[in-house]
Amino acid sequence: TSAPDPSSPTHELVVVANRLPVDSHTLPDGATEWVTSPGGLVTAMESVMRTVDSGAWVGWAGAPGEPPAPFEADGMSLYPVRLDQQDVERYYEGFSNATLWPLYHDVIVDPEFHRTWWDAYLGANRRFAEAAAPVTAPGGTVWVHDYQLQLVPLMIREKRTDVRIGFFNHIPFPSVELFSQLPKRNSILRGLLGADLLGFQRESDSLNFVAAVRKLLGYHVEGMTISVPGLGAAPVREVEVRTFPISIDSAAVSALAEDPQIRERAVQLRHDLGDPEKVVLGVDRLDYTKGIRHRLKAWGELLDDGLIDPHDTVMIQVATPSRERVDAYKQLRDEVELTVGRINGEHAPLGRPAVSYQHHSFDRRDMTALYMAADVVLVTALRDGMNLVAKEYVASRPDLRGVLVLSEFAGAADELRAAVLVNPHDIDELKSAILRALAMPAEEQEEAMRSLRHQVMENDVQNWAHDFLERLEQTGRLEGSSAPV
Ligand code: ADP
Ligand code: F6P
Repeated sequence: TSAPDPSSPTHELVVVANRLPVDSHTLPDGATEWVTSPGGLVTAMESVMRTVDSGAWVGWAGAPGEPPAPFEADGMSLYPVRLDQQDVERYYEGFSNATLWPLYHDVIVDPEFHRTWWDAYLGANRRFAEAAAPVTAPGGTVWVHDYQLQLVPLMIREKRTDVRIGFFNHIPFPSVELFSQLPKRNSILRGLLGADLLGFQRESDSLNFVAAVRKLLGYHVEGMTISVPGLGAAPVREVEVRTFPISIDSAAVSALAEDPQIRERAVQLRHDLGDPEKVVLGVDRLDYTKGIRHRLKAWGELLDDGLIDPHDTVMIQVATPSRERVDAYKQLRDEVELTVGRINGEHAPLGRPAVSYQHHSFDRRDMTALYMAADVVLVTALRDGMNLVAKEYVASRPDLRGVLVLSEFAGAADELRAAVLVNPHDIDELKSAILRALAMPAEEQEEAMRSLRHQVMENDVQNWAHDFLERLEQTGRLEGSSAPV
């Protein structure tokens, strides 16, 4: 059993996620450098955990092989989990990112299924559960995150019947028709149902999950509460499903946008681009779900059609490196870089780009300066759990200027109704939306931005975490909830 060792520290709140908030990188001289991990999960949870007393985070440090020893950072205890090269290939790049990721994002690329990948997923999930169970205080809370760890809730429940277990899925949950394609689908559902509370981004995700449980497992569902057969004394355990749209540390981002040095940096950025009249920005992990190809196609056609003048208008595309050994990501990078090269070759004025392409990370201050320098931000995801970039842009504009073009397929579209909403699959519609955004008068920008800011500033990530944990506290103590499944 993994009950806490009385001589070791335990924690009231233990977060379990595939990645730690920091990645270890080995420098040429052999020293270790820690850098912030990519993605929305870390952006959101890092700011939540900063406000928690003696919390813990269990996750992978981003490199295969011997993990670093547990260490403290930002008042939090970090417990690195070991993943060997084969785990990285089969659990992380394979089942997580070449099976689940495309399937859960509506098969934008074909998911691959391999039994060896499933075995690795099972083994890696077990390792995360084994790392989390002994460091959780008696009666404490474990909060498991995202699609890489869907078996962990049940695995922890089997070890620790005294703890509350929450799970939050940061990405979409697909329709039952698509989910049904997944080999081992019932094991995934049972794994998730080891939690007391399951959180999803959009109402449609919660409904899809409940429909899958009803259809594939035949469990009784009342409203959004699922009766899960138990063992022994408690024949039934109730699991609640709810929607919690994730957010950002809105006040912190807004405060950065008021920092005079960052404002100056935004002015400088525009100057470096040749002081164009308009700057259009895209910020994404280089992922096929983000619709970068569609965005560049629309942009290229607007230049070809003469509807955008590259002397007046510049596009910046920040495309953070991501999952670079997975085939679909390699192919995407090649295509994006070829297209950017073509657009620049045909349209860039001498000495400056039509599309400024940035394939690297920026720190938070530079990212805020970029948002402040942008007249228009394009979020054209084909499918996205939430999309925090959309919310970061809004929080970065206390001046009430700028236009957000937002895909209706991003979770953020449920809340950010005052954005220019688009179907990115319709290139003509996307082109019109871009032109409309570029031409939007200042008063109209202000009106929309005021409404968007109201939404983002009121509903920040601290509220999101508070709502989830409060609900978990209520659900996790229902009668019979401590029985193993
Ligand atoms: P995902 O979780 O799929 O990556 P989100 O839009 O929800 O997508 O979150 C992306 C997060 O990563 C945001 O906080 C964004 O600011 C950050 N980010 C994206 N690109 C970069 C970059 N090049 N440098 C630093 N942070 C980045
Ligand atoms: O929810 C989005 C997400 O997949 C997170 O789980 C993940 O940390 C982030 O995007 C970045 O992806 P990766 O960890 O594979 O680099």
